Amino acid sequence: MKAVIPAAGLGTRFLPATKEQPKEMLPVVGKPVIQYVVEEAVDAGVDDVLVVTGRGKRAIEDHFDRSAELEDLLERAGNTEKLRQVRQISELADVFYVRQGRPRGLGHAVLCAAPHTLDQPFFVMLGDVIVPDNNVLPRLQEIHEKYGASVIAVEPVEREYVSRYGVIAGREVEPGVWEVTDLVEKPPANEAPSNLAIFGRYLLTPKVMELLPHVEEGRGGEIQLTDALRDLLKHEEVYAVTMDSTGYDTGNILSWLEANVSLALETEEFGSQLRDSLERVLGGAVTESVEPRVE
Ligand code: G1P
Repeated sequence: MKAVIPAAGLGTRFLPATKEQPKEMLPVVGKPVIQYVVEEAVDAGVDDVLVVTGRGKRAIEDHFDRSAELEDLLERAGNTEKLRQVRQISELADVFYVRQGRPRGLGHAVLCAAPHTLDQPFFVMLGDVIVPDNNVLPRLQEIHEKYGASVIAVEPVEREYVSRYGVIAGREVEPGVWEVTDLVEKPPANEAPSNLAIFGRYLLTPKVMELLPHVEEGRGGEIQLTDALRDLLKHEEVYAVTMDSTGYDTGNILSWLEANVSLALETEEFGSQLRDSLERVLGGAVTESVEPRVE
């Protein structure tokens, strides 16, 4: 299975950090967001990844490439652990790139991948969404095999937040699995057909590539993937599955902060120290007070 990672968006929710830097390269506990996404794909058995990039996104290509100077330096310094880490990034998967000339929306970005995905089903993984448990793609695959249809990962969200997402309407056919009856991109809260929000992971049949060129501009004047999936309903069944894990939309500053804190708390390197720091901060102390000492 191939994975398409749209990463051409401008990251306007994260300015000024993303003025010259791709939002997908923002670090979460020292690792760029998009590396988590590629690792998640590899973990699910994907070995061919196509990243849809655009102007100002070269850092993504460089990140997944060899870095001769850095590797030489680490080798000479005998830093084998860092050397292994750096090399391993360029060996993760076959990563291909296509550029979206103008950011015309998620649907248009996915369409740019059509010459690569051909007539096969493929994953779409939003390049700024992290799913730490890596358990969503296997679940999409399972439902796809069972029903032979496109499958979308969804997550129930509070009503007040539905207008930030694509939202589905559906009929629950087994616990946590919905046959989709309608989709709306970023509906106002009072018009949303449910609180099941599309959360950045899809397994799509190739039919969607036939429909995308005919999709008209939708919400925000962009070609929306959600609108193409709504058209797909006229031809094929579409399913949605609720996620059992937390995902982070790191293009949103608050969610990025939360991803950093919660993932760092789980690491051996930072976990206990961060817990102490957070307790201090929450307890109102600005810094740890250490007495001056001269020896
Ligand atoms: C995109 C999709 C939307 C989905 C969201 C998930 O919106 O268009 O349907 O719910 O990602 O993060 P964006 O956040 O790119 O505006």
